[in-house]
Amino acid sequence: MIDSPSVQVRALPRRGVARTLAEDVRDGLGAARKYLPSKYFYDARGSELFDRICATPEYYPTRTENRLLERHAGEIIARATPASILELGAGSAAKTEHLFQACEYAGRRCVYQPLDVDGQMIRQAGARLVGRFRWLEVDGWAGDFVDAAGRLPPGARPRMIVFLGGTLGNFDEHQAPALLRALRSSLSGGDWFLLGVDRVKDPAVLDAAYNDAAGVTAAFNLNILRVINRKLGADFDPAGFAHHAFFDIDKRRIEMHLRSLRKQRATIPGVLPEVHFGVGESILTEISRKFTGPDLEALLRGAGLSPVVHYEAPGAYYSLLLCRPAVSPA
Ligand code: SAH
Ligand code: TRP
Repeated sequence: MIDSPSVQVRALPRRGVARTLAEDVRDGLGAARKYLPSKYFYDARGSELFDRICATPEYYPTRTENRLLERHAGEIIARATPASILELGAGSAAKTEHLFQACEYAGRRCVYQPLDVDGQMIRQAGARLVGRFRWLEVDGWAGDFVDAAGRLPPGARPRMIVFLGGTLGNFDEHQAPALLRALRSSLSGGDWFLLGVDRVKDPAVLDAAYNDAAGVTAAFNLNILRVINRKLGADFDPAGFAHHAFFDIDKRRIEMHLRSLRKQRATIPGVLPEVHFGVGESILTEISRKFTGPDLEALLRGAGLSPVVHYEAPGAYYSLLLCRPAVSPA
């Protein structure tokens, strides 16, 4: 596809040490407790399934965050006056539209820099956005935001980094602070960080959000095996695994697993000649942490970020936090 003059998508330069799918699969499925990095969910089919998850009645975070953005985008843009907005894990950027709508109402222009592992998704979203906001310039980047966090593409200042969808919750208690600190290092005085995160609530509500009745989340979870089959020539039988997701109250996180329904083995040519699964043995494919107010305050301040405004959904269901870099980095 040819980029239109106002939509450009480039590959993020990879760091020398950037890991490949094969290496990640070898480490994850070779470990005593098997796991897979969740970024591999998002091929074209995975991204489409994710958008369908967002539309299920059980998955409240998307709707809740959308309402917060709809309501507060005007104030966020008035405070931050961003010349550029860089979004991590932008996906279809459906909710981000509220920020551009607010720019338009305020008579401001800005450059949008969506960053996502799925470059095709950014291209489509960019085309849709410039169709609606003729003044918008899209400077998209395809690649891994963890890898890029400490050396983000340059952007016009003041810049606002936006990280929505509760995606920060997909990083554990070591990874999340490191990611935030790396992002903080790309911000100067006058720049902003907008974070959307999910909150601790009734476990039944949390469990349901990751176990929709229509089975879309299950299909999404199983898609990671199809990605490995397709990209590495592996022979996983997705029908031999079941989606299993639950809220762990002590760890305050959803854990999502693929559980082996029988004793079985798979071959990943050139990566792992034989991976064995016992009955009930599982692969951890995703965590989704849920935060308390104090958790968030500590996490942000520890990374050198100061929350300036906290927009909280009714019942403390979800939070949007508009932050600035702290005066001296932590
Ligand atoms: N922001 C959107 C999408 C959230 S889903 C929303 O709120 O609905 C998570 C998104 O992050 C997906 O689009 C996925 O492709 C992307 N993603 C996940 N891990 C990533 C990584 N390590 N680097 C870049 N993008 C990633
Ligand atoms: N960031 C989203 C979340 O943790 C990602 C997500 C939602 C997800 N539903 C999922 C990831 C199901 C894997 C499977 O809520």
